[in-house]
Amino acid sequence: MKRQILATASALILAASANIAVAGGNAAAGKAKAATCNGCHGATGISAIPTYPNLAGQKEAYMVKQMKAFKDGSRKDPTMNAMAKPLSDSDMANIAAHYAGMK
Ligand code: HEC
Repeated sequence: MKRQILATASALILAASANIAVAGGNAAAGKAKAATCNGCHGATGISAIPTYPNLAGQKEAYMVKQMKAFKDGSRKDPTMNAMAKPLSDSDMANIAAHYAGMK
């Protein structure tokens, strides 16, 4: 019984770390894709508008998670729901790598 719980727990931990490993996109490809995002989030990843978040230096896996949530509608913001809709998983990984690498 105890053994089984341990096995389940380590399987969960493995699954969670596999999930985190989505990081590692291509920043150069992300930069090209992020052209449409710059108007709001800033070409340097620092936004000029108080209600638009900065993305420079944000964690890669967190940004991928947010873009997925905007795309599937579980995080609601009309603008970002529309912006995330056309993004593929690799677009998201690349864009996240691009912003994460900014200071
Ligand atoms: C018209 C303005 C606008 C454009 C264009 C835009 N965004 Fe956003 N973005 C926002 C706003 C506003 C929020 C905050 C939404 C909220 O309050 O939940 C946001 C939030 C985000 C977040 C979550 C940040 C956080 O800290 O949780 C990410 C990631 C993001 N945007 C990525 C992008 C990407 C990638 C693009 C281009 C494909 C893009 N945005 C284009 C306005 C914009």
